[in-house]
Amino acid sequence: MHLVTGATGNVGQRVVARLRAEGSPVRAFCRHPERLAFGPGVEPMAGDMADAAAARAALLGVDGVFLVRTPGVEAFWAEVERSAAQHVVFLSSGAIGLPVETHIGRAHAETEARIRASALRWGFVRAGGFMSNALRWAPAIRGDGVVRVPFADARSAPVDPRDLGDAAAAMLLDPERHSGSSPEITGPEVLSTRDQVAILSEVLGRPLRVEDVPESVAEAQLRGAMPAPMAESILALMRYGASVPEPSVRTAQAITGRPPRTFAQWAWDHREAFA
Ligand SMILES: NC(=O)c1ccc[n+]([C@@H]2O[C@H](COP(=O)([O-])OP(=O)(O)OC[C@H]3O[C@@H](n4cnc5c(N)ncnc54)[C@H](OP(=O)(O)O)[C@@H]3O)[C@@H](O)[C@H]2O)c1
Repeated sequence: MHLVTGATGNVGQRVVARLRAEGSPVRAFCRHPERLAFGPGVEPMAGDMADAAAARAALLGVDGVFLVRTPGVEAFWAEVERSAAQHVVFLSSGAIGLPVETHIGRAHAETEARIRASALRWGFVRAGGFMSNALRWAPAIRGDGVVRVPFADARSAPVDPRDLGDAAAAMLLDPERHSGSSPEITGPEVLSTRDQVAILSEVLGRPLRVEDVPESVAEAQLRGAMPAPMAESILALMRYGASVPEPSVRTAQAITGRPPRTFAQWAWDHREAFA
C-alpha cells in the first residue's frame, strides 16, 4: 500500500493516478479528498498533516509514502518514522541547489535532512518551478488580458507537475533503483514569462500583454497572497532567474521513459482556467 499526501494537489493527484494505473493500492491523504473522484483502488482519507492521530491512521499498512511539504509536515514525518513504512519519495525543491539563499530552499533542505537521518529508504524529487504557477495570472488574463509581473524577461524551465508526479510514482514503485537519488527535474524548454504568456495567448486565441512592474508592486501582490517568507523567496528566485544567462534543463525522461510535456501542452490542458 502506498500513501500519497497532498493527494488533490498538482503533483499528488498525478502520483495517485500513476500508482493506481500500475495496480498498486493507494491511500489518498489530505484535508479535503472529496474534492476529487479518485476511482476504484484508491482509499481517500481526510486528515491534517499536523494531526498525529490522523497520520497514524493514514500510515496503517503502508510501505511507501509520497510526501509533500505542507504546514504540519514535521509532525507528520515523526509519525512516518514510528510507522512500518519502508521508503519515502519527498517532493523537494530545486531551490536547494541554487546559489541564492531562500526560505523555500532552507525549508526543503531541513525536511531532506530529517528524512536522510531516518531509517527509511528515500528519494527526493527536486522540482523546478511548476508550469501551474501560471495559474496566478488567470484573474488578469480573464480580466483585462494584461499580466503584470517583475522580471518579465527572466527565463526558467518550468515543469509540468504531471511529469513530477510520473517521476515520483516511478521512484515509489522501484525503490531498489531510485533510493538515495535526488534528481533535479525541470521542464524541457527555457521560457520567459513573456514567452509563457505568448503561448497562452495562442492557445486561448486572444491577445494578451505582459507589463513589467517594479519589484515593490509585485512584492505587495505576493504578500497579499501568501506568507511573507514565501513571497520573499519567490521574488529572490525571480531576481536570480533574471541574472542567469542559460537556465539548465533537466527533464524527468530518464525516470519516466516518456518525453516531458511542453508548456503549450500544459496550457492547452488547463485553458478553461484562463477562459
Ligand atoms: N510551485 C512550485 O513552483 C514548486 C517548486 C518546487 C517545489 N514545490 C513543492 O511542491 C509543493 C506543492 O505541490 P503541489 O503544487 O502539488 O501542491 P498544491 O497543488 O498546492 O496541493 C497541496 C496539497 O496538499 C494538501 N494540503 C495542504 N495543506 C495540508 C495540511 N495541512 N494537511 C494535509 N494536507 C494538506 C492539499 O489538500 P487540502 O487542501 O485538501 O488539504 C493538496 O492536496 C510545495 O509545497 C513545494 O514543497 C513547488
